[in-house]
Amino acid sequence: MKSSIGVVFSLAISIRAAAIVSFPNPPGYTTRTYNAHAPSSAAKSTDQYSNDALVSLWSRVGPIAPPKNTAVASPTPEPSSLSAFPQPDPAFHPLVASHETGLKDVKLPQNFAWGVASSAYQIEGAAKEDGKGPSIWDMLSHQVPGFVADNSTGDVLAEHYYLFKQDIARLKALGFKAFSPSISWPRIFPFGNGPVNAPGVAHYDAVITALVDVGISPAVTLFHWDTPLALFHEYGGWSNEKIVDDFVHYAKFIITRYDKYVPIWFTINEPQYCNWQYAGYPAEILNPKTGKKGEKGGIKARFACGHYTLLAHARVAKWYHEEFKGQGRITFKNSGNYYEPASTAAADLRSAQRNYDFSIGWFSGPWTDGDYPESLKSTLDDVLPKYTEEEKRIIKGSCDFYAIDAYTSYTAFGSSNDEACMKDPKNGAFPECAGSRQAGNDGFPMGPAGDTGVDWMKTTPGGIRRYLRKLKEMWPSIPDIVVTEFGFAEPFENLMKTKGEILWDLRRADYYQGFLDNILASIHYDKVNVTGAWGWAIFDNFEWNAGLSTRFGLQYVNYTDLTRTPKASMFQFLNWFQ
Ligand code: BGC
Repeated sequence: MKSSIGVVFSLAISIRAAAIVSFPNPPGYTTRTYNAHAPSSAAKSTDQYSNDALVSLWSRVGPIAPPKNTAVASPTPEPSSLSAFPQPDPAFHPLVASHETGLKDVKLPQNFAWGVASSAYQIEGAAKEDGKGPSIWDMLSHQVPGFVADNSTGDVLAEHYYLFKQDIARLKALGFKAFSPSISWPRIFPFGNGPVNAPGVAHYDAVITALVDVGISPAVTLFHWDTPLALFHEYGGWSNEKIVDDFVHYAKFIITRYDKYVPIWFTINEPQYCNWQYAGYPAEILNPKTGKKGEKGGIKARFACGHYTLLAHARVAKWYHEEFKGQGRITFKNSGNYYEPASTAAADLRSAQRNYDFSIGWFSGPWTDGDYPESLKSTLDDVLPKYTEEEKRIIKGSCDFYAIDAYTSYTAFGSSNDEACMKDPKNGAFPECAGSRQAGNDGFPMGPAGDTGVDWMKTTPGGIRRYLRKLKEMWPSIPDIVVTEFGFAEPFENLMKTKGEILWDLRRADYYQGFLDNILASIHYDKVNVTGAWGWAIFDNFEWNAGLSTRFGLQYVNYTDLTRTPKASMFQFLNWFQ
């Protein structure tokens, strides 16, 4: 384990000087070349991993829109530097000024790791190409009416799958030294387990090569919500312990192949996602044969999912350090927000704590004794699976640093009903039994709202400074913290009629300025060891249930011709680091 991200980053860059990129073939894996468009005419095979089995799996999802590109495009000529990009002219309109004038001469620590992030399903498109298996998101977006607000799917999107070389060339020209993408598990293992799909591996070989070639250091997430559909149908995906072995098997393949070039690994994106994904999936997705409508996985699926994600992470991390002797750092990305207690009254303080316990505390085992917080155990009782002593030992210490995706803040308030709620699983507020709102005590909103598709978000840059201090206070053993995602969906961006309007995304620009200033204040004034910050997202992408019309990009994507253009917020972000 390295003591700081920066050390590992410079290591990756110096490896690059060798300029020969080669990938080991992890032993013990069988490889095949799948093609989901090619049913065979031969007699039915009994092989559960046959190409026909893949074709049949896709038939459950239904027709997929074909890609616009059919081959990887070469990088188009890009300006060679940031200053050559068309950008806001300060003579007409300056970018957003810093609110933190006291930090004018304060510098970031050397080797602070920063860049932009995204995830495979949200940007790649090419959903059924080159032998990829379906993920649950292919199924949900196609087969569950209303699951995605604007009925968009991940079929085509920005087609980063074919345009990655151009995207990487532009990152380089803009001055980025790092990028945080995710790898699609069902591209590598179309069935989640079984044979490796050769074209899927070739794709990520090419992506890593392109990054290494231009000196951009990858920070790679292994799983960003695209659970292979086959595993969901076979045993309920993350709600079943079988997924731990399958995930470890997949993770070992990827890490063994790319570790030489990847200084930072995120095993799992936001295990807290079990809250809304596993609890909310309609049952017909869990069991396609029953055809029953409207049932959800519910609270059991939610906490089973959390249980197995943390265990899967810990098993990979243990293997990474102890057996594989990896060169980089490994952790998982938490999802969490700051909660300011409404007052010092006991009920409000308890509410703030419970809001933490049921979001980040749920996955705090790596920083404690490997177990769940007491409040979860006492409230959930048998609903919460139990870790064995051996599992707790593996979980404890399994993160090399703390990664937090933190977008916004809340006020936490308690009520006299909370205690009764904690004993009543039928109560709508169970199991948190802790109130929160995005307004101060006088009801005035905590900050300007984001777009209508993200009703959970107000821009509250001051919250991140308080949150970082709070994290360190809650778990003093954290060596350093990286803000692995933060970003903003500009209101009504999708309704704007001209590109000119879209590019002037001042509220997002203000969000980035304020957020970064507060991270710097946290390092400088509060002495919190923050070692990195990643803006979300590289460009507009598929915003899950909110679909394509909610945009988080620092670059605008024109979904007709697939061009990308940096928005004002991109220059705000880059200027801040310069
Ligand atoms: C997720 C992203 C998502 C972003 C904005 C994060 O929690 O990791 O996939 O797009 O939030 O909602």
